[in-house]
Amino acid sequence: MSKPTVLTGITTTGTPHLGNYVGAIKPCVQASHDENVNSYYFLADYHALVKNQDPERMRQSTLEIAATWLALGLDTKRAVFYRQSDVPEIPELTWILTCSTAKGLMNRAHAYKAAVQENVDAGEDPDYAITMGLFSYPVLMAADILMFNATHVPVGKDQVQHLEMARDIAQRFNHHYGELFRIPEAVVEDHVAVLPGKDGRKMSKSYNNTIPLWLPEKQLRKAIMRIVTNSLEPGEPKAPDDSALFSIFAAFASPEQRADMRKAYQEGIAWGQAKQQTFELINDELILARERYEALIAEPEHIEQALQDGAERARSFATPFLARIREATGIRKLA
Ligand code: TRP
Repeated sequence: MSKPTVLTGITTTGTPHLGNYVGAIKPCVQASHDENVNSYYFLADYHALVKNQDPERMRQSTLEIAATWLALGLDTKRAVFYRQSDVPEIPELTWILTCSTAKGLMNRAHAYKAAVQENVDAGEDPDYAITMGLFSYPVLMAADILMFNATHVPVGKDQVQHLEMARDIAQRFNHHYGELFRIPEAVVEDHVAVLPGKDGRKMSKSYNNTIPLWLPEKQLRKAIMRIVTNSLEPGEPKAPDDSALFSIFAAFASPEQRADMRKAYQEGIAWGQAKQQTFELINDELILARERYEALIAEPEHIEQALQDGAERARSFATPFLARIREATGIRKLA
């Protein structure tokens, strides 16, 4: 139990884009090879259900995200890679935790408060279209984390509050029933650049400015050609630090490549040429993985098998641990 346990979930909504790759997938895939940690990576489909109630989209997104992680070389021998809904201990723990979680704590969740505020601003009933799923989201997330006694949880800044809630929930439970849970910590990777999207704002589904990770080569090139730049002519010096294109290049480049490109900007490289070089750099990094991705997508049985194996390993920890948790709460056999 002394090794650190790293755990993170990926909500299965949408198609993976370059921002997901740089900010989350790539660092996690690299970390999955580290023998000094236990790692758990999972597809958070019960979380996705809060936002995505289209069954076909749910399946498609789960397929694409699973294929992405496998194609990029996740070490599934070492890391435990599973789908949340294949581990029934998680929703069971969610209920147990729900019963000792203060409603007032959930009232303070940013995502829930934002939804209420939007309703108020629109002159609607404050509860309009707000489900219990949205409200209880942080408890499910706490269960994901506590179920495996995770110590380190890599997340984006927007999830830090959820981690604080998970800590609160764990402490309250431990205080009442005994020290069952380790207290998890958020790991916010500040040095991993937030990738800008085509319009220069953070690359995000909600801004509709993403570049999908697995575009075919030609379309990837086109998408990169469409990244917004300014109207400086070839030969005019360009400021790398104000350029979304440069940030995107930098996220894929080695330190030397980055320094060379910085110099090229200052020396007035043409935007078209900078874009072409950005395309080539990204395409070279993805080309082999893209082939593996296509092959995996064409063989969902293979992906399913990997997920089933992962679920089995996840449950080999979760089942006995949940038994102890139930025992501690008095949910136990009479004789
Ligand atoms: N809520 C997280 C997100 O939207 C995804 C997630 C679900 C998660 N369960 C988790 C992340 C547990 C870390 C740990 O990004």
